[in-house]
Amino acid sequence: MRKNIVAGNWKMNKTLQEGIALAKDLNEALKQKTVNCDVVICTPFIHLASVAAEIDQTKLGLGAENCADKKSGAYTGEVSAAMVASTGAKYVILGHSERRQYYGETSEILKEKVTLALENNLTPIFCIGEVLAEREAGKHFEVVNTQLKEALFGLSAEDFSKIVIAYEPVWAIGTGKTASSDQAQEIHAVIRQTITEKYGKEVAENTSILYGGSCKASNAQELFAKPDVDGGLIGGAALSVEDFMGIIVAF
Ligand code: PGA
Repeated sequence: MRKNIVAGNWKMNKTLQEGIALAKDLNEALKQKTVNCDVVICTPFIHLASVAAEIDQTKLGLGAENCADKKSGAYTGEVSAAMVASTGAKYVILGHSERRQYYGETSEILKEKVTLALENNLTPIFCIGEVLAEREAGKHFEVVNTQLKEALFGLSAEDFSKIVIAYEPVWAIGTGKTASSDQAQEIHAVIRQTITEKYGKEVAENTSILYGGSCKASNAQELFAKPDVDGGLIGGAALSVEDFMGIIVAF
């Protein structure tokens, strides 16, 4: 059966010292508690090696927020999937709407990143989601299906099984405006159906589909109660142990 996952996305927040402190405190909090989901934090690149040394990754998984679309070489400022893996991190967020929007990441680029992540045994947390105008035009199903197909449906079933999907409506990210649990369930079911059509029922049933976008302790329980919502990708509320734990215990 698929896993329930609560993953934090720190984005461009926390200095190295602040990040280590947050990771250590979260690690401590998780030691004290039995939780019913996998917990992951995705941090800026510079935190990864130090955080890896401080946490128990059997209780708290670690990931990056991005990786390069090239293997290695003269790409100043980029960080490769192999480098991410060499820190001890096991996950990588790919295709986040902020990367698509501000850094021009297309499906073509994301395909390369997914391939390199998998080659380096990283689990991609692959983000899809529509902008407000697309939802208002009734195009949200079409948009997420296209994002899925373009970047991921070239994978073998075996490789696709290693992917975690995060549905994040762009209008809900950092806005305080959460999708309703019914809206989330509706589109998660469509995403799972699209995966079923391509890879079959078994693969689709085993794929974790997370919801992201202003998810917090006060709405997590209702969202996670939906049959096709298998957890959350959490931005703002992942920056404090109390807020993040409030979401984790929703399972
Ligand atoms: P948010 O961000 O929880 O702050 O809305 C979610 C995300 O962008 O992954």
